[in-house]
Amino acid sequence: MMTIFTKQMPFLLLLLLSLTTFHRTRSSNDHKLVRCNEKDQETLLIFKKGINDSYGQISTWSTEKDCCAWEGVHCDNITGRVTELDLGNHGLTGEINLSILQLEFLSYLDLSWNDFDVINIPTTQNNITHASNLFYLDLSIYFFDTSTLHMDNLDWLYPLSSLKYLNLTGIDLHRETNWLQAVATLPSLLALQLSQCNVTNFIINPSVEYLNLSSLVTLDLSFNNITFKSPNWFFNLTKDLTYLDLSRTNIHGEILSSLLNLKKLRILDLSLNHLQGFVPDEISQLANIHHLDLFGNWLSGSNIPSIVANLSSLEHLNIGYNNFSGKISEITFSKLSNFEYIDLRSLNFVFQFDLNWVPPFQLQHLSLSNTNQGPNFPSWIYTQKSLQFLDLSSSGISLVDRNNFLSLIERIPYLSLSNNSITEDISNLTLKCDSLYLDHNNFTGGLPNISPMAIVVDLSYNSFSGSIPHSWKNLKYLYYINLWNNKLSGEALGHLSNWTRLDYLNLGENEFSGTIPIKLSQNLNYFILRSNQFEGTIPQQLFNLPYLFHLDLSHNKLSGPMPECAYNLTLMVTLPMNSHSYFVSFEWFTKGQDYYVDDDYSNRRTIDLSRNNLSGEVPSELYHLVQVQTLNLSHNNFIGTIPKVIGGMKNMESLDLSNNKFCGEIPQSMSLLSFLGYLNLSYNNFDGKIPIGTQLQSFNASSYIGNPKLCGAPLKNCTTKEGNHKTTKTSQENEDDDSIRESLFLGMGVGFAAGFWGICGSLFLIRKWRHAYYRFVDGVGDKLYVIFMVKLNSFRRN
Ligand SMILES: *[C@@H]1O[C@H](CO)[C@@H](O)[C@H](O)[C@H]1NC(C)=O
Ligand SMILES: *[C@@H]1O[C@H](CO)[C@@H](O)[C@H](O)[C@H]1NC(C)=O
Ligand SMILES: *[C@@H]1O[C@H](CO)[C@@H](O)[C@H](O)[C@H]1NC(C)=O
Ligand SMILES: *[C@@H]1O[C@H](CO)[C@@H](O)[C@H](O)[C@H]1NC(C)=O
Ligand SMILES: *[C@@H]1O[C@H](CO)[C@@H](O)[C@H](O)[C@H]1NC(C)=O
Ligand SMILES: *[C@@H]1O[C@H](CO)[C@@H](O)[C@H](O)[C@H]1NC(C)=O
Ligand SMILES: *[C@@H]1O[C@H](CO)[C@@H](O)[C@H](O)[C@H]1NC(C)=O
Ligand SMILES: *[C@@H]1O[C@H](CO)[C@@H](O)[C@H](O)[C@H]1NC(C)=O
Ligand SMILES: *[C@@H]1O[C@H](CO)[C@@H](O)[C@H](O)[C@H]1NC(C)=O
Ligand SMILES: *[C@@H]1O[C@H](CO)[C@@H](O)[C@H](O)[C@H]1NC(C)=O
Ligand SMILES: *[C@@H]1O[C@H](CO)[C@@H](O)[C@H](O)[C@H]1NC(C)=O
Ligand SMILES: *[C@@H]1O[C@H](CO)[C@@H](O)[C@H](O)[C@H]1NC(C)=O
Repeated sequence: MMTIFTKQMPFLLLLLLSLTTFHRTRSSNDHKLVRCNEKDQETLLIFKKGINDSYGQISTWSTEKDCCAWEGVHCDNITGRVTELDLGNHGLTGEINLSILQLEFLSYLDLSWNDFDVINIPTTQNNITHASNLFYLDLSIYFFDTSTLHMDNLDWLYPLSSLKYLNLTGIDLHRETNWLQAVATLPSLLALQLSQCNVTNFIINPSVEYLNLSSLVTLDLSFNNITFKSPNWFFNLTKDLTYLDLSRTNIHGEILSSLLNLKKLRILDLSLNHLQGFVPDEISQLANIHHLDLFGNWLSGSNIPSIVANLSSLEHLNIGYNNFSGKISEITFSKLSNFEYIDLRSLNFVFQFDLNWVPPFQLQHLSLSNTNQGPNFPSWIYTQKSLQFLDLSSSGISLVDRNNFLSLIERIPYLSLSNNSITEDISNLTLKCDSLYLDHNNFTGGLPNISPMAIVVDLSYNSFSGSIPHSWKNLKYLYYINLWNNKLSGEALGHLSNWTRLDYLNLGENEFSGTIPIKLSQNLNYFILRSNQFEGTIPQQLFNLPYLFHLDLSHNKLSGPMPECAYNLTLMVTLPMNSHSYFVSFEWFTKGQDYYVDDDYSNRRTIDLSRNNLSGEVPSELYHLVQVQTLNLSHNNFIGTIPKVIGGMKNMESLDLSNNKFCGEIPQSMSLLSFLGYLNLSYNNFDGKIPIGTQLQSFNASSYIGNPKLCGAPLKNCTTKEGNHKTTKTSQENEDDDSIRESLFLGMGVGFAAGFWGICGSLFLIRKWRHAYYRFVDGVGDKLYVIFMVKLNSFRRN
């Protein structure tokens, strides 16, 4: 199940690229000699009628051309009969008409990775029993969460007696309660993929004599909510299985004893279920096991090391997030010469490796995060020359063998050493990483050079000093950079114009200086410069970033007025028009905050300009950013009144205007801010009566003090004179242009396509996602994944 975060990531990137240039696995051959069979051509044209070919991918399908030369069509070169239809990933929508199975000689049908809306199963009058040569059928979809594809029954499968490979991944089959019966009638079936099909049940009343699944070699039922009442009989019938994926199928209880009958198993994936109890020792008799995945269950016992020691074919071991105990030493791994992948994260093993142990394997992937390794860096890892992924975060390491350590970390593409106490100076290194997490350590000295391929750099909470190396201008794929809380200085922002894909920038709590440039990545979501020495004015461009939702410039030396046009902070104004709002994911992070150990910054829509030397009036546009939840303008020299339109900032939770020179009355509309949990208007020149309303009276006097002319609860009672004080001229003017502006904001939408990578791409990469991975265990993570897929799909639809 690791796939989603580590393997699928580049794959999704690839997918995105391929969306515009649909791959053609085989170019259609120009058959000059063979003529297409007319009946076949007719069948194909009927199939085409249902299809909405919005990308023109099958525009060659016309009678002007011989049908054997149509895109994706392959004929037998002697008889001219259609034998293959290869339309995977062609951007097709509309209807799959299964009358296509009337092609008598069809042996291969691939319609996967399209975006069809409906499957039309012809009624019995239309005989679809012809395709008896069909051995490969793939109707799978990738965008399962938004897909409406469903099938109410699988009866049409019965005649497909030659079928060997059946992939219906992502198609909703929940209405077909007899799915098992249906597939069991396929005498030649080798591979069955029903992942994410919303199938719920094994048939409780198995007419066992009719079920013949002995041919089955591959079975994937992952990501379904299957009630596993008594599938023992099922695994007794499938003794030849080599590949079994039951990840996230909601299995409870102990590991089924009948699984141990599957002596030929090479791949067993039971991750993300609710399995408890011990892992039976007999698992070690599954001598062919290459890939064992028990990640994210509640399994316990101390016999795992001895089981692993005996599985000499093992290449891939993923057992993190369980309750195992025991001792792992070089003996555990001594026979595993094919080992490539180990994930033991968050396990309570005692690790005891001989200092001089040289493993018989070369790993590609190692995660020992949140295990007990320290204080010494495990020396056997220095021998691993092929590592692509190393996660040793939170493993108690403080001491390293400097030379070995430097040469190891220099070459690993994905490197996480977060949350240890490593104190090295790595300034002379050039790290060849694309994802680098060294945060929460005590690294000292200058920043290292980093490969131009880097997309994520998190060096926060260390003691790095000096300036950002000039070479970092090369990081043109940089997505996420976090240097929070170091001792860095110099003019950091000169690099910004070269980081054109940047989405998260956090340079806070350093000693950086210089001015904010006008050329910025349009994808920025987070822009955090808090507590530095930045000076000059705030460029207007910063308020035109359509996807920005967290702006923190506080505790700097910025001066001058706020820029006039705060129009294009689109994410702070409106939810995206897309109904699959990508904001869901942020909201969700907010609620989930407690899960994260490193919440230096929340995901609330925030503008914090406090503690600078800003002056002048606050443009009323700022108060139109109705999605803002935190607004802090305190400790500046702002003047002018609060406009009535502030009452429209309905999501406001925290508002601090204190220590400025604001004046006039507090508008009555502020009592409409019903989520307001923190308010500070103190030390200004407000006057008149504090408006009555539960909200404003719920704060105590400290929210209002330092305004000598302000009165009413919770301050002292107003004298009659103060109470009758009328609205000042300035605030009336403000109210007038409020309504004009309002219409402007309502009309604004978000260009989803452009924003996609700005929003969702970043979610994928930011470090919180690594924590989010854990949450897959309780199924919450699925939601995230689904949300991501929603984005991807919506993006594609655009
Ligand atoms: C075809 O697909 C496009 C894009 O998906 C859509 O805009 C159009 O309405 C569809 N046409 C039909 C006839 O379904
Ligand atoms: C026909 O196709 C087969 C493979 O599909 C190929 O081996 C053979 O050479 C082809 N014959 C002609 C005449 O193209
Ligand atoms: C369907 O085709 C099969 C074999 O080709 C034939 O035996 C059967 O009678 C046909 N059924 C109908 C309803 O046409
Ligand atoms: C089945 O379909 C899914 C989704 O398209 C795909 O990931 C998987 O590789 C397919 N299985 C096989 C054996 O091709
Ligand atoms: C899955 O099946 C349940 C019934 O078992 C149904 O209520 C639900 O809508 C289905 N979910 C999807 C996404 O189709
Ligand atoms: C899975 O099914 C069980 C019982 O059939 C039900 O209680 C549970 O809510 C379902 N879980 C999900 C995530 O659909
Ligand atoms: C399945 O196998 C288990 C273990 O070998 C055995 O106890 C059980 O009786 C078998 N069940 C059936 C239905 O054959
Ligand atoms: C970095 O390299 C320079 C020149 O080779 C050397 O003088 C310095 O000591 C090195 N610094 C570290 C921390 O290794
Ligand atoms: C980091 O190192 C400095 C100086 O060596 C030390 O004062 C500080 O306590 C260390 N911090 C941590 C978290 O180890
Ligand atoms: C940085 O960007 C500037 C123009 O914005 C360009 O001239 C320069 O070559 C870039 N530097 C690097 C190292 O890519
Ligand atoms: C807002 O963005 C649009 C498109 O990016 C641009 O045309 C417009 O000038 C911007 N508005 C302001 C006030 O900068
Ligand atoms: C303020 O006025 C209310 C009635 O409006 C009165 O009950 C209260 O005693 C007064 N408080 C003070 C401090 O004068």
